[in-house]
Amino acid sequence: MLISLEEAADKLLSGDVVAIPTETVYGLAASYQNTDAIKKIYQLKNRPPQNPLILHVATAVEIEPFIKAALPPHFYLLARHFWPGPLTLVLEVILEKIPEIVRAGLTTQAFRVPDHPLTLDLLKKTGPLVAPSANLSGRPSAVTTEHVEFDFGKEFPVLDGGVCQRGVESTILIYKEEKWHLGRLGALPAGAFTSILGYTPEEISADDPLICPGQRYRHYAPHAKLNLVKEFKGVQAIIGFSDRVYPKDSQVIRWGSSQDPREVLSHLYETLRYLDSCSIKEVFVDVDFPDEGLWRTLKERLKKASGI
Ligand code: TXA
Ligand code: MG
Repeated sequence: MLISLEEAADKLLSGDVVAIPTETVYGLAASYQNTDAIKKIYQLKNRPPQNPLILHVATAVEIEPFIKAALPPHFYLLARHFWPGPLTLVLEVILEKIPEIVRAGLTTQAFRVPDHPLTLDLLKKTGPLVAPSANLSGRPSAVTTEHVEFDFGKEFPVLDGGVCQRGVESTILIYKEEKWHLGRLGALPAGAFTSILGYTPEEISADDPLICPGQRYRHYAPHAKLNLVKEFKGVQAIIGFSDRVYPKDSQVIRWGSSQDPREVLSHLYETLRYLDSCSIKEVFVDVDFPDEGLWRTLKERLKKASGI
């Protein structure tokens, strides 16, 4: 059910859960102090309780009261450069200031200022909101209001912000041992941070305790079986690029140019959801693309979605 900004603010302030648009994907929002509403988010998504939530704020300065000691080096440079935008920063916080259920018991909290005019206005009315992606746990994220309604039902309140422009989740940076590390690949490539930090943040490996807890779970997966391949012979369905030629007897679903990873990422979840809406059982995905920049984000999402 599509609702207005005022209705969304009223609902959130009275303890309801509402889906909200961001530039990355839709989120399932609740006030960060309302533990009952937050429990409802975990239930609605069927989300593992060990997987903490991102706290969304309207401006970087709102983060200061939550912080234990000094902010890490480069915090304000990163904030000024990328916020509002698809970057999440994980910081040590004063534990009493943020309910344990938000942090999933960790001593850190993930923060982000989303780049969507409606949600920024909403945050000014409601204060900080927790918001995991608005999809059933393990399934592809939602980038349209229809996707949210498909997962949570037609009656579920959704603030209509149109199609999410980036279409893939924020990049997460975690500060540890005097450096920022990549906790999750996302809408910003590692190289985006090099000139600001003076180094390129390294990816945290999956078995490192520092890894974002969510990275340990299967994610983004359609019911269809995904095969990640570079050659196509005698296959029924292909996900491929708009500027490539594939066998004539295959059904080809095209998600953008092989020269434009941003375009492809913006169509990723739409494409994965489309497979299920047409009951396609198996698809062969063209992964003949470079192992660099935003292509790494695409590869990571595809690996998770295919269960590798
Ligand atoms: O773009 C996004 O980030 C979207 C929009 C709605 O803002 N949100 C999103 O939330 O992707 P979610 O819950 O689907 O993913 C949040 C990720 C999870 O992998 C979680 O483990 C990680 O952030 N995370 C949250 N708090 C953390 C913390 N304190 N330390 C490390 N990782 C954390
Ligand atoms: Mg998610």
